[in-house]
Amino acid sequence: MTAGKAKPAAAAQRRDGRGEVYLVGAGPGEPDLLTVRATRLIARAEVVLYDNLITPEILALVPADAERIYVGKRRADHTLRQDEINALLVRHAGAGKRVLRLKGGDPFIFGRGGEEIDTLSANGIPFEVVPGITAALGVAAYAGIPLTHRDHAQSCVFVTGNLKDGSMDLDWPALARPRQTIVVYMGLPGLPLLCEKLVLHGLPPSTPGAVVQHGTRRTQRVVTGTLATLPERVAKALLHAPTLTIVGEVVSLRDRLNWFVPRAP
Ligand SMILES: C[S@@+](CC[C@H](N)C(=O)[O-])C[C@H]1O[C@@H](n2cnc3c(N)ncnc32)[C@H](O)[C@@H]1O
Repeated sequence: MTAGKAKPAAAAQRRDGRGEVYLVGAGPGEPDLLTVRATRLIARAEVVLYDNLITPEILALVPADAERIYVGKRRADHTLRQDEINALLVRHAGAGKRVLRLKGGDPFIFGRGGEEIDTLSANGIPFEVVPGITAALGVAAYAGIPLTHRDHAQSCVFVTGNLKDGSMDLDWPALARPRQTIVVYMGLPGLPLLCEKLVLHGLPPSTPGAVVQHGTRRTQRVVTGTLATLPERVAKALLHAPTLTIVGEVVSLRDRLNWFVPRAP
């Protein structure tokens, strides 16, 4: 596709005076990990709605004359409710704007992207979804932890570790299986409970685990341990969100495969 050209259907809509929405995955934060499609769409955006996972380096790629709207979303600090974000997308696209909805990672992995395009679809607004590198893939690569490996893990599951009323609604017997890697999004506050439950359901306390802060970025930090030691080590390290937790034998490979040296700006 030629740079700077809208898809034929979207271009036709714009001639009718109606806008469109691009739901774009921005990857884990390092601008070089944006897709070519994402980079092109960022450069042409008229209105940009973004949340807290979008790094300043990626935001700097937005044209100076584009309207930028921070729609937030940190735990316990929801700047706008999801229905308000959906309404904003409809309003700006309805006014004929080329709207970029920029989301961290991939829009369809724990990103509520489905809900946003559902609203657009119901309102007859044309949209396109651009996949991004989800945190699990970016973080694992930059931490030197292959998520699968012939000798260590034949499967890999992605789960959300959000705490609700102090507990985690997860299928523990399905998670606590040998030769499986578990990747936990939003799992920092619930880390002690996660480790305890996995051991209770049969994983050895010696199972390796890692928590990665700001994966792929210059501020990346990695704390490793076992299900028995990880919570205490992470608490001591005072890590900050966003972090991703990886549990499984593959974490032990990091000792040999770690290649990324974060550098201060
Ligand atoms: C609401 S989820 C959104 C996930 C996103 N849609 C994706 O595909 O990566 C936010 C969580 O993603 C994880 N995350 C995103 N970027 C990260 C990064 N650079 N380093 C570590 N974890 C990250 C953290 O667990 C964070 O709490």
